[in-house]
Amino acid sequence: MNESSVNMESLVALAKKRGFVYPGSAIYGGLANAWDFGPLGTELKNNLRDWWWARYVHGRTDMVGLDAAILMNSKVWEASGHVANFNDAMVDCKTCKARHRADHLIEDQVPGVKVEGLAPTELSKIIVEQKVKCPSCGSLDFTPARTFNLLFQTSIGKTEGEKNTVYLRGEIAQAMFVNFSHVLETTRRRLPFGIASVGKAFRNEITPGNFIFRTLEFDLMEFEYFIRESEWSETFDRWLTDMEKWLQEMGFDGEHLRVREHTKDELSFYSKRTADIEYHTPFGWKELFGLAYRTDFDLTSHSKASGEEMCYTDPETGEKFIPHVIEPTFGLSRLTLMAMLNAYHEEETETAKGEKETRVVMRFHPRLAPYKIAVLPLSKKEALMGKAHELQSQLTKRWYTDYDETQSIGKRYRRQDEVGTPYCVTVDFDTQADQAVTVRDRDTMKQERIAITDLEAYFAQKFTW
Ligand code: GAP
Repeated sequence: MNESSVNMESLVALAKKRGFVYPGSAIYGGLANAWDFGPLGTELKNNLRDWWWARYVHGRTDMVGLDAAILMNSKVWEASGHVANFNDAMVDCKTCKARHRADHLIEDQVPGVKVEGLAPTELSKIIVEQKVKCPSCGSLDFTPARTFNLLFQTSIGKTEGEKNTVYLRGEIAQAMFVNFSHVLETTRRRLPFGIASVGKAFRNEITPGNFIFRTLEFDLMEFEYFIRESEWSETFDRWLTDMEKWLQEMGFDGEHLRVREHTKDELSFYSKRTADIEYHTPFGWKELFGLAYRTDFDLTSHSKASGEEMCYTDPETGEKFIPHVIEPTFGLSRLTLMAMLNAYHEEETETAKGEKETRVVMRFHPRLAPYKIAVLPLSKKEALMGKAHELQSQLTKRWYTDYDETQSIGKRYRRQDEVGTPYCVTVDFDTQADQAVTVRDRDTMKQERIAITDLEAYFAQKFTW
């Protein structure tokens, strides 16, 4: 199935039914736009994260990791410009009180109008002139657009009066900037080199939505790649190509990916050039990854505000300067959604009795699949279940496995297809006699007989990363 024709409702229902993503706090009526990753969603997200770390940190000689605190001194966010500039413009509907992001309202209802970089007053003018309606109730009556800071605030302090405002991090990048000199000192790196981080970011989004696409808290993976200024353009292009290459390796269809350059008006306050890699979702082309040239903006700002030197000294020439930065950023929660959309397929097949049925299959790259193998005894006979348990214990030492003994074998295959398990191993009535099992391939549905003694070698050839 073409990704853009995947029905979002079917995907959300499957995600809940099979334990990828649950609505958050559901037993208390939920919390708008809060989602929990279930057992299989956690595996999928961790597989994406681990692949990213293996590819971009352990797989290179110029990258080191950092796992920083979420709460930082508020001065970090003042110096970084987020307190003053990390804003969106919002309007409230005077009739139904719904709150909307002004630029999104206009984009959805007035095709072709450019909203990037417009001041709140200019956005309000377009809303009135173009008769933009409230999507919730149809009213034309809005408050004037006003800016809204996306940083979440909280406070530290045991008693009232001792309060101290802090921010939940709006991006994970800042810790990599404020630790730049420590990392340089402790790892003796030379330019170019990168610092990589994975973790939660928080944004008080005005209009979250589309399942886990835009949420208030989300997982991010990104690195800051420190370079000499003269190298920025070439380094930017190299990272863009590399980010696209990783998407291909994961099995993303190139036709559903595109690169979109930010216009000058649209650039974040810290960026001189930004390109988004977008994915064609059922709700339009949407940003998946971003790549920004942040110049020396962040290191210079922190250097000035803190009084700490954020310089690099060239070991050969002795030249001392503040490095520039290229920032490839990968939304991990969003990538998990796109990986599910990309994998979701509905196919017409026939049952063993010749009846037509629709098979839902998640065609994940095997490295991303939550379970690599499912072990299924053909019947609930003790000998078969015992052998199946024994095989699962053996295989699960190397690959994450599932075990299922309930319902017909056909139904169990379908369940594994729905969670994207690449292989099912069936222990049947001949197993004891021939010491072999049937291995069924998720994508081709072909089955082959494999000797139990060859099973590990068989899968080692399939799972080659
Ligand atoms: N340090 C740069 C930075 O944070 P960004 O474009 O604001 O850049 C990075 O965000 C990535 O995070 C995006 O490309 C997107 O994948 C993801 N992202 C941004 N806001 C999000 C949200 N509210 N919910 C889920 N993912 C989000």
